Amino acid sequence: MRVVLLGPPGAGKGTQAQIIAGQLGVPAISTGDIFRANVSGQTELGQQAKTYMDAGDLVPDEITVAMVRDRLDEADARTGFLLDGFPRTIGQAETLENALEKRGRSLTAALLVAADDDVVMKRLSGRRVCTKNGHNYHVDFDPPKREGVCDQDGSKLVQRDDDKPETVKHRLDVYHKQTQPLIEHYEDQSLLKRFDGTRAPDEVHNHIRATIATMRMEEQV
Ligand code: AP5
Repeated sequence: MRVVLLGPPGAGKGTQAQIIAGQLGVPAISTGDIFRANVSGQTELGQQAKTYMDAGDLVPDEITVAMVRDRLDEADARTGFLLDGFPRTIGQAETLENALEKRGRSLTAALLVAADDDVVMKRLSGRRVCTKNGHNYHVDFDPPKREGVCDQDGSKLVQRDDDKPETVKHRLDVYHKQTQPLIEHYEDQSLLKRFDGTRAPDEVHNHIRATIATMRMEEQV
């Protein structure tokens, strides 16, 4: 399965990606997580990406595409992958399609987790992430057992720099202008599957799981 996960910031892509990838037996590859790991590791890539991320802008395609291409060539991604947050522009989508075509492969599906701007604003203002592995929480909707501490690895929970309200507003503008056109792009290729991201995480997950199971059955026919 070669799947991309689309949706506005805060729609729940990261929350769903880990569970779905585990079930599919493919790696979940989040461009946002790779950039954040590079920022905290103070690598050259991290330094290049940080200014854009802090402003809520997209990192330029030439940087992002080279990074994803390298990641997809790693052994664990050869049989399949779930891309979270990539592609985010038509240019990135076309580069991905060309790279897959050169390797005799193609995308299986594009999963859209949809949510309106007001829902996203509430979610991102309450999001907390763990400093060790990026596990996600929400102060109201999905609180940790101990305030400020990750249930899974005991690390400290913090607010992401780009989750401040003014930056979230800008990220939403960027999403509407640069990423939303991908919905039509994948619809035209009959690859798009839509999910209501405003439902509870378990409901969203069950819907995605059922859709993937149907897609697998159809492949076998
Ligand atoms: P990235 O990390 O990809 O951020 P994003 O797309 O803005 O997505 P988020 O991580 O904010 O949200 P999400 O949809 O994963 O939601 P989550 O599951 O966390 O990118 C960050 C930056 O990196 C970009 O701005 C850009 O600069 C750069 N970048 C990354 N990829 C790039 C690319 N391809 N090209 C160029 N630049 C790129 O959930 C959010 C909150 O809601 C959590 O608190 C969670 O607990 C809660 N929640 C989740 N689901 C539900 C639910 N169903 N009900 C209630 N609460 C829920």
